[in-house]
Amino acid sequence: MKQGSLPVTVIIMIAGLLYTCSCNSNDKTSKEATQKKGSANARLERGRYLVETVGSCMHCHSQRDFTKFSGPVKEETKGMGGVGYPIFGTLYSSNITPDTATGIGRWTDDEIVRAITLGIRKNGDTLFPIMPYYEYNKMSKEDAFSIVAYLRSLKPVVNKIPERKLKSPAGPEHDLFEYASLDNNQPPPANDSIQTGKYLAAVGGCITCHTPKTDDERFEKDKYYGGGDGMGRKFGFQVYSSNITPDTATGIGNWTEKSFLDKFKSFRNPQAYSYDPGKHNTLMPWIMLAQMKDEDIKAIYAYLRTVKPIRNKVEKWPPEKK
Ligand code: HEC
Ligand code: HEC
Repeated sequence: MKQGSLPVTVIIMIAGLLYTCSCNSNDKTSKEATQKKGSANARLERGRYLVETVGSCMHCHSQRDFTKFSGPVKEETKGMGGVGYPIFGTLYSSNITPDTATGIGRWTDDEIVRAITLGIRKNGDTLFPIMPYYEYNKMSKEDAFSIVAYLRSLKPVVNKIPERKLKSPAGPEHDLFEYASLDNNQPPPANDSIQTGKYLAAVGGCITCHTPKTDDERFEKDKYYGGGDGMGRKFGFQVYSSNITPDTATGIGNWTEKSFLDKFKSFRNPQAYSYDPGKHNTLMPWIMLAQMKDEDIKAIYAYLRTVKPIRNKVEKWPPEKK
């Protein structure tokens, strides 16, 4: 967390923030630290939290070890991208480390925020919406720039990503969603757990995996969070996402706040995933989401109680058809 490594633009923005923001800088070393340093650290820490836990960015932008449950990220590959998505033609996750030749080291902060929240690359190309920018579009501006601050602190990894070759152009897909500037996005009110949960569920992209898709890979709009989306084949297994609506028969309607929290917390212990599950593996980012603060996991639970119950029985690992 060397402040000296922050780009000038970030420092100017932070300086600007000090005039408008009454953020409490809960910096542990704050005795000696100047207010400016405390604010930069708070931003970096928030960015780390969003990227490494809630946002699960490394879920797609790193290599994973699928000889273990839930595929822990291989530390040395963090942010380097290159994970292929063969279903849409040839498409790879980008290198989002600060490497200047093969990563995003030469992008401005605004260009990075535009990619994350509007799906537009530095060169103007539309990103394919496997990258969930349509959800990140709901983020507050402060959170988006916190993510940028954290990405800039990653170790640069040289990894040239091959050109994508899409079966269908990204344009029409992109137009399915609504995009706006982040200017009017507010962070959720601190004392409102449902709104906080809704916000975190968006940043966590829960909807993207927990909603069944039509044959042309669109969300079944009346089945949000209803589960049953198949995934994992390219990693050598097949898993179907759970129904996380409050339906009591087929969803998580009977789960208490405590059982929800405990399920996530169990993955704070490496023993919970340090075994080879064979074909019963998962893409659910348990290991990352387990690191969320307890109150944030509870907020997501509170929000999920409010979504429309969907009756849809899902078997996570159905017996393989011969
Ligand atoms: C579900 C997988 C997935 C998740 C989760 C994801 N990304 Fe991506 N991201 C991608 C893919 C795939 C691309 C490249 C898309 C393309 O080539 O059209 C991409 C592209 C990008 C780019 C554009 C870089 C460039 O060189 O064009 C940035 C920046 C980025 N992601 C940042 C993030 C951040 C930050 C997060 C977390 C908040 C995140 N991504 C989460 C899959 C993902
Ligand atoms: C990359 C895909 C993916 C994302 C993103 C994702 N999930 Fe999941 N989730 C799954 C899959 C697949 C399963 C079923 C297998 C398992 O239990 O691990 C699952 C299982 C679950 C379960 C267990 C339910 C049960 O019946 O056992 C809960 C709870 C859950 N997810 C909540 C969430 C929440 C909340 C988010 C967002 C913060 C989220 N998931 C994001 C793929 C995902």
